[in-house]
Amino acid sequence: MPRSLKYEIPGEDWRRTTVEAAVEGMAELFSPQLERPFEMVLEIGFGRGEFLLDLAAKEPCTAFLGVEVSFKRTLKMARKLARAGFDNVRLFEARGQVVVKDLIRKDSLREIWINFSDPWPKDRHAGRRLIQPDFVRDAALCLVSGGTLHVATDDVPYAEQIDPVLASEPLLENAFAPERWLCEVPGRMHTGYEVEWREAGRPLHFFAYRRRVALEEG
Ligand SMILES: C[S@@+](CC[C@H](N)C(=O)[O-])C[C@H]1O[C@@H](n2cnc3c(N)ncnc32)[C@H](O)[C@@H]1O
Repeated sequence: MPRSLKYEIPGEDWRRTTVEAAVEGMAELFSPQLERPFEMVLEIGFGRGEFLLDLAAKEPCTAFLGVEVSFKRTLKMARKLARAGFDNVRLFEARGQVVVKDLIRKDSLREIWINFSDPWPKDRHAGRRLIQPDFVRDAALCLVSGGTLHVATDDVPYAEQIDPVLASEPLLENAFAPERWLCEVPGRMHTGYEVEWREAGRPLHFFAYRRRVALEEG
């Protein structure tokens, strides 16, 4: 029998709606818990949330935005956050594409993390993959100069698609050049899915692209 979903949040509920973000602005959603100025970091597709919880624990004065398309995963993460007692994370049940296009101010994020987003392996579904030129342009615009977009995948055809899409975005430069990606990044925390992929011996691909520092005109 499937286990029933627990809806009650054992503490503060840090889920916010996209309407709240649009009306108030992302940074406002961290008032009054975080003192300004603070840096902002986004994770898209946090899944079971291990990676985001780890980041948030290590940097209590940084504002973390967690975006997940699944209602159930967002609810479960809200319960975990409340139990952990963190006040520096805000959660959104939304598509990452919408958040970077419409809800995050340009030049405002220090980092964006996209870990093992769905590869949509069937050819006819390839258009649903998250890493596409328009999305990457929107994400790059959200980064501050020198800010980093991190992408990880265990899927070889998806890695081969991600590589030229990231490399073709003029606002970004490859932080791992001359390598296209790394198979290991020392010190990087393993995500929930990554632990499973490692045990299964799947090949891992880690990309990191920095927003180029804007040159002053004149
Ligand atoms: C394979 S899981 C990986 C979860 C986690 N990042 C990890 O590495 O353990 C992919 C997650 O991304 C979420 N996701 C897929 N497409 C998304 C999108 N467009 N926007 C936000 N979340 C998305 C899925 O619901 C799922 O939880």
